[in-house]
Amino acid sequence: MAEMTPEQLRLLRDVLQSACGFVLRDDLKFIAERRLAPRLEALGLRDFGTYQRYLRYDPRGKEELELAIDLLLPRETYFFREPAQLSTFVDEVIPRLAQDAVGRTLHVWSAGCSSGEEPYTLSMLMGDHPQLSGWDLDILGTDLSQKALSLARHAEYGPSALRSTTPEQRAKFFDAAEQGRVRVKPAYKARVRFGWLNLLDAAGARLLPSMDVIFCRNVLIYFDTETRRKVVQAFSERLREGGYLLLGHSENLFSLTTKFELVQLSGDLVYRKPRVD
Ligand SMILES: C[S@@+](CC[C@H](N)C(=O)[O-])C[C@H]1O[C@@H](n2cnc3c(N)ncnc32)[C@H](O)[C@@H]1O
Repeated sequence: MAEMTPEQLRLLRDVLQSACGFVLRDDLKFIAERRLAPRLEALGLRDFGTYQRYLRYDPRGKEELELAIDLLLPRETYFFREPAQLSTFVDEVIPRLAQDAVGRTLHVWSAGCSSGEEPYTLSMLMGDHPQLSGWDLDILGTDLSQKALSLARHAEYGPSALRSTTPEQRAKFFDAAEQGRVRVKPAYKARVRFGWLNLLDAAGARLLPSMDVIFCRNVLIYFDTETRRKVVQAFSERLREGGYLLLGHSENLFSLTTKFELVQLSGDLVYRKPRVD
């Protein structure tokens, strides 16, 4: 198997970082070598120096870059991830939203939704919320991995996606599929739509509707500070005043922006875009 020199790793990191923000850290070198080895072989390239030049300069480089991104970016996700935060969302954020929304429609964005478990979880939690009965819920999941989006649209999952669900949740929200797999029930699938979006593309994000809530969990951790700042700026543009931003438990906005206020709810800390009165 070809080995990556430190310089080749740096050049590959640069290509990936400017394409999607992902920082290929030094300690991921072996993983990158292993996952990309079949691509070198398929393309008949002898080493990673040639591979990164292929990504940059070959007419098919853009296509290959999408494959490399699919192979290298972590897509780990599962239903009902971070239950404490989800309880806060259900018990404290939704009632506030229901009280001050204009009309009876809520727009929710799962940014970096991977294979769909997060936006479907939100559909399950919101669809059954007593204060949202009769509301129009528009839940959008976006990702830059076409592979992840195609799994999301298919809405069929194996046991690992269900690792944090209870038997009651499995019975209520899923139908049995073949080979021990499950399928999201049509009612919960229907209100979720998916779209391709690179979070670095601020102009693309501006085409989305104004959001009441943005979930962006376990995505910013893979970016450098400057990229985080840009992505969070795009979130602040997309979020309506008084709307909420929920990040992963190891993520925060310290020293990134002053556009959000930190709100201490009884179960968790969340970010809110302040109202300008
Ligand atoms: C670890 S998963 C997190 C999934 C889900 N939010 C969760 O917390 O369970 C990170 C996702 O972010 C996506 N991602 C990474 N960089 C992105 C970018 N620049 N634009 C859009 N999606 C991106 C990856 O493709 C991956 O599906």
